[in-house]
Amino acid sequence: MSTAPLSAVASPAPPAIPRHVAIIMDGNGRWAKARHLPRFAGHKAGVDAVRHVTRAARALGIEALTLYAFSSENWRRPEEEVNDLMGLLRLFIRRDLDELARENVRLRVIGDYRRFAPDLVELVDAAIARTAANTGPILAIALNYGAQAELAAAARRLAARLAPEDITEAAIEAELETRDLPPLDLMIRTSGEHRLSNFLLWQAAYAELLFVDTLWPDFDGEALADAVAAFGRRQRRYGGL
Ligand code: FPP
Repeated sequence: MSTAPLSAVASPAPPAIPRHVAIIMDGNGRWAKARHLPRFAGHKAGVDAVRHVTRAARALGIEALTLYAFSSENWRRPEEEVNDLMGLLRLFIRRDLDELARENVRLRVIGDYRRFAPDLVELVDAAIARTAANTGPILAIALNYGAQAELAAAARRLAARLAPEDITEAAIEAELETRDLPPLDLMIRTSGEHRLSNFLLWQAAYAELLFVDTLWPDFDGEALADAVAAFGRRQRRYGGL
């Protein structure tokens, strides 16, 4: 029989919490269609899911949550839907900024959001500024974001400044929009699609990927906790043994 003290045997390592989680929020349209509702209703329910999941991420101790709200390819959608998404973003900032500020969240945006309507750009800039001095978790929203454009822009800046031999992986990393976020640990995509859709391609190099069938509006705090538990069961080897 072992003589080890009970405390030594009975205290398993604490569950691994991913420091940085990114989510491709997919399935709003199908959620609405299944209920014979307009697509707008799906996106609106999607914003409620954003609220629940953001709260749950804070409670779980996730340091950074990056949400793919509008890709650089989403401009191809009908104008009415693009306007609806912009309207929901305005509403989200107006309704939720007080809570985010109070909860010490730092709001960030990645992507070329300056192509949005001037009032929305102003609203986003003010929201970022209001939470900039906070010290808590980061909520990064990807707006008009595309990973290939992010990498091409980084390459252009580096080429203008550095000799080819100095364009290293670290130099590229330092040019990415996520440069001051923790390394990406977990990338989740909802709705049963198995693609990265031009989201954080560099950052996902060693991230764990999790594809779940749940449609985004149904993804809640419990679903995020399940995803974190699944992450905790993964063995990460970074190319080693
Ligand atoms: C994908 O569902 C979802 C989007 C393109 C937009 C995600 C946006 C939100 C959840 C709302 C705005 C976000 C914030 C942060 C306020 P889809 O329309 O492609 O669904 P489908 O594939 O079922 O048609």
